[in-house]
Amino acid sequence: MTWSEELVSSENRQIQKMLRDTGRLPRHIAIIMDGNGRWAQERGRMRIDGHKEGMESVRSAVKTSSQLGVSYLTLYAFSIENWKRPLPEVRFLMGLLETYLRKEIDELHANGVRIRTIGKTNALPKSVQRVLKGAIERTAENEGLTLTLALSYGSRWDILRAVQVVAMDIRRGKLSPEDLTEEMISSYLQTSYMPDPDLIIRTSGEVRLSNFLLWEAAYAELYITDGFWPDFRGAELYRALTDFVMRERRFGKISAQLGSESAASSMSTLERILHALK
Ligand code: IPE
Ligand code: IPE
Ligand code: MG
Repeated sequence: MTWSEELVSSENRQIQKMLRDTGRLPRHIAIIMDGNGRWAQERGRMRIDGHKEGMESVRSAVKTSSQLGVSYLTLYAFSIENWKRPLPEVRFLMGLLETYLRKEIDELHANGVRIRTIGKTNALPKSVQRVLKGAIERTAENEGLTLTLALSYGSRWDILRAVQVVAMDIRRGKLSPEDLTEEMISSYLQTSYMPDPDLIIRTSGEVRLSNFLLWEAAYAELYITDGFWPDFRGAELYRALTDFVMRERRFGKISAQLGSESAASSMSTLERILHALK
């Protein structure tokens, strides 16, 4: 059964319909999946158990985003700074990633998910690189959710890379400095195929970006929740989205300039969604 067929009989259908009907869902959701280690430690378990448990939340976020018709979901799975962690934990995370891809690829593909990555992926173990390449190639033509895994990713690393390429293009005469625009900078980044994130979610209560999508996050709405990533399931994403659709995104303007799209117009629907989530 595909995810959309499943939805027909599920209790989530009503909530998803209400959220969609607001016409204000984000096109691009990016998530900093944090707190796996603390989740495990709170239970007297090993940190790696938290990572394992977090995979179930990944499945849930991917499926819900796809059902809602969100176009882009970007998951911060391993930062370039995470290489500094103890080797056994790094090894475990790499193994988990490989297992996830091998296990989930058929279902992702059947549901039209297109897999991509951002980050310094040539630093990943060869076996992981191979599975990733297979998954990316197999799903390249899919037209559903674009699922981007940020792996060995650091935004400054990506910006630095982009600046180097820009400099080379200038030296080669392909480009002149005065012609550079913001759109051009975006097009040199690894994230060039996706729109900027509308919503960035971070779990575990930490109020920081940790080197994630620094350029792209210029006008993203931030949603930070205290719960740990392994608990971010079920209603949690709906809560984040309800919070998001209620916000007024002004992009520098004032409320009066925004017209009929202002948040207040759909307030009663949102109250109903929040009620349904209780
Ligand atoms: C997020 O959870 C997963 C990764 C960074 C790979 P953490 O492992 O950072 O968990 P905490 O923040 O230590 O609890
Ligand atoms: C950010 O989490 C990276 C990922 C979620 C993959 P960290 O747990 O590594 O972030 P810091 O170091 O606490 O900021
Ligand atoms: Mg952390």
